[in-house]
Amino acid sequence: MPLVDWLLRHSVAMCLLLQSFVLMSFCFHSATTFPKGCYHADEEGYKTFRCSNAQLTAIPKDIPNDTNKLYLDFNQIAFIPNDAFQNLPGLVELDLSHNIITRVEIGAFRGLSENVRSLDLSSNKLASVNKDIFNNLKAKANLSGNPWLCDCTLQQLIKKVELVAGSSDGIVCAASTQEEHVGKPFLQLVGDMDFCNIYKKTTDIAMLVTMFGWFAMVISYLVYYVRQNQEDARRHLEYLKSLPSKQRKSEDSSTISTVV
Ligand SMILES: *[C@@H]1O[C@H](CO)[C@@H](O)[C@H](O)[C@H]1NC(C)=O
Ligand SMILES: *[C@@H]1O[C@H](CO)[C@@H](O)[C@H](O)[C@H]1NC(C)=O
Repeated sequence: MPLVDWLLRHSVAMCLLLQSFVLMSFCFHSATTFPKGCYHADEEGYKTFRCSNAQLTAIPKDIPNDTNKLYLDFNQIAFIPNDAFQNLPGLVELDLSHNIITRVEIGAFRGLSENVRSLDLSSNKLASVNKDIFNNLKAKANLSGNPWLCDCTLQQLIKKVELVAGSSDGIVCAASTQEEHVGKPFLQLVGDMDFCNIYKKTTDIAMLVTMFGWFAMVISYLVYYVRQNQEDARRHLEYLKSLPSKQRKSEDSSTISTVV
């Protein structure tokens, strides 16, 4: 009887201990798997990972690798480093809107596949982005609501990327190579002018100068050549004139005879 009693009492204690262990490990486990404020859901067959409004200051490291849709909008992310989205082969939608992103490294989206169809970078602090960040991507992008610097870099970016329908008017110049562009939608300006033309013009001028130089050299050589020949001809004529007149007469008669 006391043995059974002992066992019962201790098993209850052991049970409690075990339970708290399980709970604790579960808590730790979920803490290391999911960043705070993020949750995982199955939405219409898409594995969705939502970290919207989670006070994130960087891209979370431990996003489940089977995620199809990733929402990181309304956070304080300022910087997208190289390989930020590696090991997400099934990703089709990426929302980075409403952050404070100022810089995107060239290899930021390197891990993503051609299956990504939507990339939202709207409402951030982007002023300039290299077109090569979109290498190998076919996603439709929303780039509106950023303080864009309207220059050749932006023109090349817009040329390369496909914009989400209806979002082009949201790409407004906050700064530009020309003062009067500020506050205007970039795509309206691009219709009238080529922001990369300035460089083309300078190379054109360099080409013209070089060509003109060559031309001048050829012409001056020609002039020199003709002058030299004229001198030679004159000297030859003088030489002929200086010959004895008898010889010249016979020469003359012979030419007349041949003419006759
Ligand atoms: C996710 O990672 C696990 C283990 O690392 C691997 O077995 C699985 O194939 C990966 N899934 C995808 C979709 O890559
Ligand atoms: C693009 O982003 C802007 C700013 O966040 C938003 O207002 C707009 O609805 C977005 N457009 C589309 C087509 O998603």
